[in-house]
Amino acid sequence: MKTKITLLITLLSLTFSLSSQQITIPILTQNTALVLQTDNNKRLKIIYTGKSLKKDQEYAETGKMFKLLSQGAASNNNAFAVAGIDNNFTEPAIAVVHEDGNNSLDLLYDSHKVSETSDGATLTTITLKDPVYPFFVDLFYKTWNKEDVIEQWTTIRHNEKGDVTLNKYASANLYLFNKNYYLTSYNGAWAKEMQPEVTNLRQGMHTIESRLGTRENLHTSPNFMLSMDGQATENTGTVLMGQIAWNGNFSLQFETDVLKNMHIVAGINPYQSAYQLKPNMPFETPRFIYTISFEGRGKGSRNLQKWLRNHTLLDGQGERLTLLNNWEATQFDFDQEELVSLFSGAKDLGVNLFLLDDGWFANKYPRNNDRAGLGDWEVNKSKLPDGIPYLVHEAEKEGVKFGIWIEPEMVNPKSELYENNPDWVLRQENRPEIYFRSQLVLDLTNPEVQDFVYNIVDDMFTVNPTLAFIKWDCNAPIFNGHSKYLERNNISQSHLYVEYVRGLENVLKRIREKYPTVPMMLCSGGGGRSDYDLLKYFTEFWLSDNTDPLERVFMQWNYSYYYPAISMCNHVTNWSDKPLKYRIDVASMGKLGFDIRVDKLSDKDMKFTQQTIRNYDEFKDVIWHGDMYRLASPYENDLASIMYLSDDKTEGVMFNYLTNWRFLAEPSLSPIKLQGLNKDKTYRLTEINLYDDSQTPIDKEQIYSGEFLMNVGFNPVVNSRRSSVVLKIDAI
Ligand code: DGJ
Repeated sequence: MKTKITLLITLLSLTFSLSSQQITIPILTQNTALVLQTDNNKRLKIIYTGKSLKKDQEYAETGKMFKLLSQGAASNNNAFAVAGIDNNFTEPAIAVVHEDGNNSLDLLYDSHKVSETSDGATLTTITLKDPVYPFFVDLFYKTWNKEDVIEQWTTIRHNEKGDVTLNKYASANLYLFNKNYYLTSYNGAWAKEMQPEVTNLRQGMHTIESRLGTRENLHTSPNFMLSMDGQATENTGTVLMGQIAWNGNFSLQFETDVLKNMHIVAGINPYQSAYQLKPNMPFETPRFIYTISFEGRGKGSRNLQKWLRNHTLLDGQGERLTLLNNWEATQFDFDQEELVSLFSGAKDLGVNLFLLDDGWFANKYPRNNDRAGLGDWEVNKSKLPDGIPYLVHEAEKEGVKFGIWIEPEMVNPKSELYENNPDWVLRQENRPEIYFRSQLVLDLTNPEVQDFVYNIVDDMFTVNPTLAFIKWDCNAPIFNGHSKYLERNNISQSHLYVEYVRGLENVLKRIREKYPTVPMMLCSGGGGRSDYDLLKYFTEFWLSDNTDPLERVFMQWNYSYYYPAISMCNHVTNWSDKPLKYRIDVASMGKLGFDIRVDKLSDKDMKFTQQTIRNYDEFKDVIWHGDMYRLASPYENDLASIMYLSDDKTEGVMFNYLTNWRFLAEPSLSPIKLQGLNKDKTYRLTEINLYDDSQTPIDKEQIYSGEFLMNVGFNPVVNSRRSSVVLKIDAI
C-alpha cells in the first residue's frame, strides 16, 4: 500500500506539473484522503478532506466540484493560511515580522517529496516559499496507513539578514467541507479532569487553549472530537478526533466560515510567546495528531489507541507492573518501619511493586507537608535512617519491586534549593511571588537546571540500580514566569513558554538514552499532563487524584476516546463508600494499582482482592493490547458498559457498572449489545470477580453465537445489589 501511495503521488505530481502546471498532492491513509493542489498562482489549497477514493486519478478532480474560486470566502481553503496579504481572510496559521520590519507573508508552492520513514509511516514534505523574502515553511504529513492516523507539523525557517519575529507559528491548518459541526472539548480542574462539553459550532471562532505553561490537561484538555454533518454516535457518523501534542500552552482554533466549512488551526498558543527566529535555525512545531473515522467515535478511538500503543507510548506493546502505592494510605506521615511493614501487604495482595510516594526527602526543611522541602532530594534521615537502598532491599526480600515518586521540576520557597539557587526559579524579582500548592517552577530553559533535574533521576538509579519505577509529578503551573537565564543571555522572555517545554524534553531524552525501558508514570497533581508528546518518554499516566470509582467510570470513559487502557493508571483507594468490588472492577480497566491499608482489609476482602488480582493477571493482556468497545454510555443510561476484545476475537472481558442509584433507575431491563465479535463464532460468558459466597444469575453453561450477542445483546443483570458485573468472554 505504501509503495502504491508513493507511486501514485509521484505520478500525480508529474502528470499535473506537465499538463496544467497544477500539482496535486494526496495525503492518504487506508480510509482517509486529504488532497492538496496548487492554484494558478502556485498557492497551495486544500481541495478535499474525506474518504479515500478507489480511483486514484480522481483526487485531482475533487477541487472542481467545490467551486473554490480564488477570491473571498471561496479562498478560505489555504493549506497554510498566512497573515499580512490580502488573499486570506481566515485565521492565520502563521504571522511574522521580517527582519526589515515588513509584516506581510505570502507562501507559494516550491517543492514536495514523499518518503518512507524508518518506523514504517509515509512522510510527505511540502516546501512553501515567500516569493519576496528568503522565508520558508515546510509542511509535514506523516501518515499511518493501517491506523488511519495523520501527524501534521511544520518547520519554519529563513535566511534573512537578521531575526524574524514569529507572532504565530501553528503546526497544522485543516479545512473541512462538511456541515453542522459538533465539537466535544474537555474542561477540567483538580480531581475533575476531562469533563466533556459539546458545542454546536455555527459561526465564527471557537478556541480551546491553555495558558498554564505546564500541566496542559488541567483546565482544558488538548484532546477534542469534531463530529461533522451532525453528531456522530459510537458506531455511526464522521468524526475527527485528535490532540495537539504539546506539553505547554496550546491553541486549537475552529473557525466556521460563511460556506459552513470548517477551518482548523492547531499549534502552540502564541500567548506572550513571540519568537525571534535566527537565520538558518529551523523552528519545529509540535505535532497535531488526528484520525478521521467514518464509522463513529468507537472506530476513531480504536485508531488512536492502536497508533499510541504501536508507535508512540513507551513500551506500548509491552507489559506493566501492578502496584501498591502509599499516598492515600499514609500521605506524608510514615517512617521506615511503617513502610517496610507495608511491603508484606504488597506481597500478600500479589502485586508486583511497592511505590513510595511524596514525603521521603529533605532535612533542613523536612517534607512533612506540601509547604516545605521540595527540591531537596536527599533522603529524610529521621524518617528513613537507612536510606532508599535499604527500602529497595527490604521490598525485594518480600519479592516485590520498589518504585519512587519525584517532582523534579518544582521547588518550595522553603527549601535549600531555593535558598542557594534563587536564579534557578521562575519568578518576578520585583513582584510578590504567587504560589500554587506552595511551590514554584524551576527554570528549565537553563541548561544547568536541566542537568540538576537529570541528575535527580540519574543519581537515584546510580545508588539504586534495581529501582523499578518512577512516578514523575508536576503540580504547579507557571505563574509570573520570568527566567533569569533568558535575561542573562539576552533572549526575549517571550521564549520562556516554548523553551520550558523544550528544556523538559531535553531532560527526558537524556534519561531515556541512559534508561530506555524503566517504567515511568506521568503524573501532574492529578491528571494535568497526558499529551502524546510526553508519552514518548512514559509508559503510563495518572488520570486524576479523584479515585471515587463512580467518578472514574465517567473519567475513564472520556479518556478512553484518546488513550489505550495500558497507558491509564487506575488505583483502588478509599475515596468513596462504593463496595470494594466496584472499586477493583473499575480500576481493572487499565493498569491496576492499589492505594489502601492492606492490613485493614478483612479476611474476606483480602481473599476476594487476591482472587481479583489473579483474575486480572489472566485477562490483562486483552485489556492492555486488545480492542476497546464502549457499549453503553453512563451519560445516556443508568449503567456503563465497556468491553475489551483480543485481536483474534476469541477472548474478551465485559465490564458493567451501575451509575444511577435512584429508585427510578432501570439498569437491567434491556440487554447490552456486544461489539467486535466474530458473528459466526460461539461464545461463553462467565461472571468473575465474585465473593465466594455470592451467587450469580449468569448461566455459564449457556453458549451464544457472536451474531446473537451483537444483535440481541446480553443482560449482565446490573442492579443495586450487583452494582458492578465483570464477564469473561471466551470463544468455544
Ligand atoms: C499529586 C499526585 O497526583 C498524587 O498522586 C500524589 O503523588 C501527590 N501529588 C503527592 O504530593
